[in-house]
Amino acid sequence: MRSAVIAGIGSYLPPTLVTNDDLAARLDTSDEWIRTRTGMAVRHVVDPGDATSDLAVEAGRRALASAGGGGADALILATTTPDHQVPPTAPEIATRLGLGTLAAFDLSAACAGFLYGLTCASGLIATGAAERVLLIGADAFTTMVDPDDRGTVVLFGDAAGAVLLRAGAADEPGAVAMPVLGSDGSLADLIKVPAGGSRSRSSGPPSKQPDPGDVYFTMNGRETFRHAVRRMSEASREAVTRAGWDLTGVDRLAAHQANSRILAAVADELGFEPERQLSNIAEVGNTAAASLPTLLAHSAADGSLRAGHRVLLTAFGGGLSWGAATLTWPDVTVG
Ligand code: UT7
Repeated sequence: MRSAVIAGIGSYLPPTLVTNDDLAARLDTSDEWIRTRTGMAVRHVVDPGDATSDLAVEAGRRALASAGGGGADALILATTTPDHQVPPTAPEIATRLGLGTLAAFDLSAACAGFLYGLTCASGLIATGAAERVLLIGADAFTTMVDPDDRGTVVLFGDAAGAVLLRAGAADEPGAVAMPVLGSDGSLADLIKVPAGGSRSRSSGPPSKQPDPGDVYFTMNGRETFRHAVRRMSEASREAVTRAGWDLTGVDRLAAHQANSRILAAVADELGFEPERQLSNIAEVGNTAAASLPTLLAHSAADGSLRAGHRVLLTAFGGGLSWGAATLTWPDVTVG
C-alpha cells in the first residue's frame, strides 16, 4: 500500500509578540506564575484584521518551497479558528497559493487536528485520490480567548505549520505510519466555546442574543490536564507498538505543546529523558493545530531533530480528541 511521505515542511509565526510581563501589566498574573505553571515565556499573536488564512498561506508557501516546488492535488487545513463559519477556509488558501481548483477542505479536531489531518492525507494518498497533499495546521486562538481571562489568555499563541506529503513507500524515511486516533464526547464540556454554533443559534427567539461572554473559549484546566496526560501516554504506547518499535528506541518525542508540566508528566510516564524531548513552548505557547508542525519545523531548523531520528508524535485537545503517530525523520530542508 502507498504511504504518505513528508517531502517538505515550513512554519510561520506572526511578528507581534506578547510577553508574560505584557500580560502581567494588565492582568492579575505574573511572569513567575506563567513560567512555572505553563513553561511559557512569550507568544506570537495576529494583529487586528489578520486571520488564520494569513498564517496558513505563509506556512503552506514555505512547505511547498521546502519540497522543491511543484503543487499539490489536495489541501487539508486543520483548524478550530477558520476565517468564517462559511465558507471553509482551505479553498481560499489554495487559491492564494496558486494551487488551482484542487480538493480543499477544513478539518476540525482541535489540538489533535494535525494528527487527524495526517491520517486523512495518508488515506487520500493510499487510495490514489491524491499524489501530493498539502496539510496545514493553523490557528489564531488569540482571536477566541477572552482578553481579560487570566486563566486562558496566557496559554495561547497564533501560528501555522505545514507539511507537503507525497506518495511513497512505507519503509522510506518520512513515511507516516497509520496514526492512532481517539475521542470522548462525554467530556465535551471541558473545552468549549458555548456560542456561535447551531446549538446557541437555534435556542430562544431570533431576537435573543447570546451572553456576550459565551463567544469566548472556556476550559476546565485541571480536568483537561489529567485527561491530556493519560490519553497522550496511552496513544503513544499504542502507536509505538503498532510501528514495531520500543519506547527506548524512539529518538524524539514531539508532544502537543499545551503545558510544560503536561509534557513532563507524559515524558515521565513514557520514560523519556529531557534530551529526547522536543519543545518550543517557551517561545510560542499553545498554538493548537499548529503546535505539532511548528514544533517539527523549529526542531528540524535548530538541529534538535535530524534525518534518521525515530519520532513519536502525540496530541490532545477539545472534543475530547487525541492521537499519536510515528515516523522516521526525512532529509528535508525547512522552508
Ligand atoms: O490544548 C488543549 C489542551 N490544553 C491543556 O491540556 C491545558 C491543561 N491545563 C493546564 O495547562 C493548567 O490546568 C492551567 C495552566 C490551565 C492552569 O494551571 P493549574 O496548575 O491547573 O492551575 P489551576 O487552574 O488549578 O489554578 C490554580 C490557581 C487558582 O487560584 P486559587 O483558586 O488557587 O486561588 C487560579 O485562579 O491559579 C490561579 N490562576 C492564576 N494565577 C495567576 C489561574 N490562572 C492564573 C494566572 N496567573 N494566569
